[in-house]
Amino acid sequence: MIVLSVESSCDETSVAILKDGKQILSNVVLSQIDIHSPFGGVVPEIASREHIKGITMVFEEALQEAAVTPQDIDLVAVTKGPGLIGSLLVGINAAKAFAFANDIPIVGVHHIAGHIYSNAIERDLVFPLICLVVSGGHTELILMEDHYDFQKLGETMDDAVGEAYDKVARTVGLGYPGGPEVDRLAAIGEPTYPMPDIAQRDSYNFSFSGIKSHVINLVHNIHQRNEEVDVANLCASFQETVTEVLVQKSRQAIDEYHAKMFLVAGGVAANKGLRAKIRERINDVEVVVPDFRYCTDNAAMIAVAGYHQFKKQGRTDDMSLNGRSRMRLE
Ligand code: KG4
Ligand code: ZN
Repeated sequence: MIVLSVESSCDETSVAILKDGKQILSNVVLSQIDIHSPFGGVVPEIASREHIKGITMVFEEALQEAAVTPQDIDLVAVTKGPGLIGSLLVGINAAKAFAFANDIPIVGVHHIAGHIYSNAIERDLVFPLICLVVSGGHTELILMEDHYDFQKLGETMDDAVGEAYDKVARTVGLGYPGGPEVDRLAAIGEPTYPMPDIAQRDSYNFSFSGIKSHVINLVHNIHQRNEEVDVANLCASFQETVTEVLVQKSRQAIDEYHAKMFLVAGGVAANKGLRAKIRERINDVEVVVPDFRYCTDNAAMIAVAGYHQFKKQGRTDDMSLNGRSRMRLE
């Protein structure tokens, strides 16, 4: 079975081809990071226009690289949400046009299901499992007892962890997206700055707006005293506190639900500090972290999720398939 997938929910235009649910034949990602970085974040209107400019070329490249023709495709999978609505619609309309023209069934896929299933590329999932979803828009702990069965144990009450990373980066003058820069500097700094206690006890929920404001105030106060911020130490302090709470709650969920596998998904899964802490503290169950190239947005993960969604539900969408800026995973 060959799946062609499309992802355009934010600032990456991507098309992938997947064989038999696990094998990636191609995964073409056209990133807009350089276009948005002067603005310090993604500009939705610009993102939509860039998707329109790139989508046809990305389709062609993905088919060419996989050496398949439209006649070989059995299913089209496309991100239907959540995300920037203008961006989503470009991918959805391209996917619908391709499916309609070639008479191929289509399924709309939840973006976060995609991130979770980035862990099923070239690998089988074992249930029950716990997945920590950490991206620019999401921070969630998910329990899965079977394929395509998502139970949300907890989520952020305010900012997503990636969002907090980007804000901290911006506060100390690092570029966008700031997560990778904070991660790089944290590795050479020491956690010398005091950080607030951000553990939301008695629940699997998270909160990152407090630590974000703390860092902003701290930097402001240091500047007012005409002193210099030790950026590496500040990054190390922030990262230590944030990764600690992520790992601590993951550990607790793994124990409570007797998980056999632990997955990490989303852009922040690329974080080296988080990966190191997980290696240290979660070593009694199989831990899966996606390859770096599958951590940030890509269509390969949407293909794998779409494949399992179709197998489990046996349902396809019709040409009324539409984008949704917000939607629940469960
Ligand atoms: O999953 P993703 O590509 O997009 C969303 O669906 O949100 O995640 C992007 C987020 C950004 O906030 C970026 O700063 C963060 O992931 N990120 C990182 C790292 N690499 C990417 N955050 C911390 N450490 C990293 N190494
Ligand atoms: Zn994402």
